[in-house]
Amino acid sequence: MQYVFSDRMKDMGGNAIREIFKLLSRPDMISFAGGFPTASLLPVKEVGEIAGGLLRGEKGVEILQYGATEGYAPLRERIASFVSRYGITGMKSDNVRIVSGGQQTIDLMCKCFVNAGDAVLVEDPTYLAALHIVRTYRGVPVGVKSGEEGLDLEDLEAKIVKHKPKLLYCVPTFSNPTGRTYSLRVRKEIARITAKHGVMVLEDDPYSEIRFAGERVPSVKSFDECGNVVFTASFSKTVSPGLRVGYCLGDPTVMAKLTIGKQAADVHTSLLSQAIVEEYFARGLFDKKLSCAIPVYKEKKDAMHAAILKYMPKEFSCTDPEGGLFIWGGFDESAGIDTANAFAGACGRGVAYVSGESFFADGKDRRHLRLNYSAATPEQIERGIKILAEYFKESIK
Ligand SMILES: Cc1ncc(COP(=O)(O)O)c(C=O)c1O
Repeated sequence: MQYVFSDRMKDMGGNAIREIFKLLSRPDMISFAGGFPTASLLPVKEVGEIAGGLLRGEKGVEILQYGATEGYAPLRERIASFVSRYGITGMKSDNVRIVSGGQQTIDLMCKCFVNAGDAVLVEDPTYLAALHIVRTYRGVPVGVKSGEEGLDLEDLEAKIVKHKPKLLYCVPTFSNPTGRTYSLRVRKEIARITAKHGVMVLEDDPYSEIRFAGERVPSVKSFDECGNVVFTASFSKTVSPGLRVGYCLGDPTVMAKLTIGKQAADVHTSLLSQAIVEEYFARGLFDKKLSCAIPVYKEKKDAMHAAILKYMPKEFSCTDPEGGLFIWGGFDESAGIDTANAFAGACGRGVAYVSGESFFADGKDRRHLRLNYSAATPEQIERGIKILAEYFKESIK
């Protein structure tokens, strides 16, 4: 059969992470590649008990029936007030939609706002799946420079003027891949500049709750005065990614349009998963679990950062995040390391990472790599970084 795929899909490859997963089946492989929460922190027992109780209880039939695309009403209500921890106030259920993971919000925002050929501004570097989604809708990702404080505001405004983008996508807290957090000033300015130019913003925040140092910074959404910011987050990193429960919130008009987009995609997010998350909160397990999880993530991040300082060549520098799941590092030009080409050799030695090019809008970076610290144990982290360091040092020679 000669398959004639749509113009939209015919040139799309799988995203780099999905491809890497296939390589990770070796049992002795140390993976710094994915963004998996620590397996031992997944609440298998609690979710098992909650699911059994829900199905045996008075809501059992409702949960197994079709539900509203907008989401499970008790969870939407809870989220409307829960987001006050991000400085977002005055939300009602009408502002909130439940989605099948935060990833779905990126998809729905592109579906609803991006025409073929439209520019979508993204931080350089950004979450690689967001680039993939933008391209699926035949949008054109345009990278905005970023530094210690977050997006470069001059570059942001210049690119808005030049490219007239429909949308800015950003991960202001513990960004994937850099682990960096935007300053308060940058957040306020993003809200102001995008409102001035009528650009929609998708603020993606899957990592805020995994903070092991520093203080919370209010979200960009909390400075939104004209309804151009949509905020999305999920319970993937805090409860379980397999449940596929996330949410988005914003102006009711935008939410209504996203709901129409979602109806066509999956009708609604699994009601059982939504009810489990709601009950998980109702039993007070959410904050309790975080208080156990955060020290685990801190220990792993510390182990990785210390191992990098101890073993990696002097030409390598990296971030030291206050939360999230990733360290981002890069080699000086002088080292002559191409992290994309080096990947196969690293896997051959039993250590996987994600090379930088997948995170940049133009896909040209060859110097950087992203290292995840949540999946491996502290011992594996030390061993894996030592192996990587020896490999890179040999390559520099
Ligand atoms: C920045 C960012 N956004 C969205 C997602 C998608 O998460 P989920 O769909 O599981 O909520 C991830 C997952 O790693 C991520 O890093």
